[in-house]
Amino acid sequence: MQGSTVATRWWRDAVIYQIYVRSFADGNGDGIGDLPGIRARLPYLAELGVDAVWLTPFYRSPMADFGYDVADYRRVDPLFGDLDDARALISDAHGLGLRIIVDVVPNHTSDRHAWFVEALASPPGSPERARYHFRDGRGPDGTEPPNDWESVFGGPAWTRAAPDDQWYLHLFAPEQPDLNWDNPEVADEFDDILRFWLDLGVDGFRIDVAHGMVKPAGLPDVGHADQSRMLGTEPLPYFDQDGVHAIHRRWRALLDSYPGERIAVAEAWASTPERLARYVRPDEAHQAFNFHYLGADWAAPTQRAVIDESLATSTAVGAPTTWVLSNHDVRRHVTRFGDGEAGLRRARAAILLMLALPGSAYVYQGEELGLPEVLDLPPEYRLDPQLGRGAEAGRDGCRVPLPWTGDVPPFGFGASADTWLPIPASWTPLTVAAQESDPESTLALYRRALSVRREDPALGDGELDWEDAPDGVLRLRREPGFGAAVNLSPAPARIAVPGRITVSSVPLAVEDGHVTLPADAAVWWTSGRGDLDER
Ligand code: GLC
Repeated sequence: MQGSTVATRWWRDAVIYQIYVRSFADGNGDGIGDLPGIRARLPYLAELGVDAVWLTPFYRSPMADFGYDVADYRRVDPLFGDLDDARALISDAHGLGLRIIVDVVPNHTSDRHAWFVEALASPPGSPERARYHFRDGRGPDGTEPPNDWESVFGGPAWTRAAPDDQWYLHLFAPEQPDLNWDNPEVADEFDDILRFWLDLGVDGFRIDVAHGMVKPAGLPDVGHADQSRMLGTEPLPYFDQDGVHAIHRRWRALLDSYPGERIAVAEAWASTPERLARYVRPDEAHQAFNFHYLGADWAAPTQRAVIDESLATSTAVGAPTTWVLSNHDVRRHVTRFGDGEAGLRRARAAILLMLALPGSAYVYQGEELGLPEVLDLPPEYRLDPQLGRGAEAGRDGCRVPLPWTGDVPPFGFGASADTWLPIPASWTPLTVAAQESDPESTLALYRRALSVRREDPALGDGELDWEDAPDGVLRLRREPGFGAAVNLSPAPARIAVPGRITVSSVPLAVEDGHVTLPADAAVWWTSGRGDLDER
């Protein structure tokens, strides 16, 4: 069951909308999105038909990684508002039947966090330093990093605290020192942080770098360079250690001690779907992002294989599968799938495939508008800390503010034309207002699909059966009475539609119980449910 606040196991098939807080809506006219901006736009999300909203970090932060470097986990950064704004947002969201999930960043703090400031001011071996990973350097003068680990953002994972001082570990930017989870003080502090937000009324947490935290004893070398290419595909000593599951079990017990089914969704990178499924065993996180699906090419065999594998591995541990096409760390899927018209056509078909699958689905802000990646941001706006450290591309192009109304930037994002990343002037036809008045728009397609998904008992949690289909076409059935076909081939395909079409990614006409499904198009139908009328 979706949408109801009394539903149990609501998370098993929830549609969760990701808000990148800097870029959703700007309430105070400083060109940066904020909590009051989001609050004012909650009715848009309720109308879109999602069940919950995940907010990226809005805590006090020097913004070296745009909030994933937290200086104070219990305060709202003044850029985004204050705690009263957070309270009001949670309460309004609940009033509209929307749940709120917030981000928690346990692998590392900001280098401006009080603990790290104290650690730097304290001597080697002190309890202050024991909250992080400080080590002496290698080589005669300690001028070499303590081991060969590389930062996910490129370059060594170690920075020397000061000349002649120790080095500290940071698996991300140097401004994000890794916490030492072997220290019980760290675990206690995070229990307290979770309680703080649970007491404020949040419905769950997205756990940043949920595969991090635990480091193996002795911090052994990897043995070779170019480690970022191994992320999510090969074992690395600093990620996905068995010991990390004790933390997830501890947090699950804490979440379960609160009323109302508060959830954890793990941002976990593991080398295989089986290892990933370990994060969603019954006493750990409720969900994990399915990055294997996100990374799958637009081709029928690839899509079918990743869907089958995802369902099999999560079902084996009794967890729902999740599906995700885009987020704030990857190129938007319109662009990944070919960009331009072809990319958009595929993205429209992809959402119908994704929302037809059993499990929970994530929608990244702006994908409902068909936004592409912005590939031509001027250099002064390429701000991602990943850039300049050896990484190939920055993540700024998927973080451009949303266009809401009007003909010129900032398209109603806020009062200031000087948005933190510029919005392309070419986005006039992509604004929410422009799409609201067009029944063929991508926004209209998302609204329709989400509303059918919510009403149709065959959708959401449950089983899936594949049916025979021409080459390059995926055809599936969900009981009772739901069918979908997606044409991932370059040629049109003739498809039997044994029922009434409820949604399609392109206009279709049924003749003799068949449709001609163009390349990169998708259709849903239902048999025997008259209340789901034709599109
Ligand atoms: C996660 C976040 C990403 C951030 C990183 C470090 O991968 O999604 O945006 O840079 O963690 O916190």
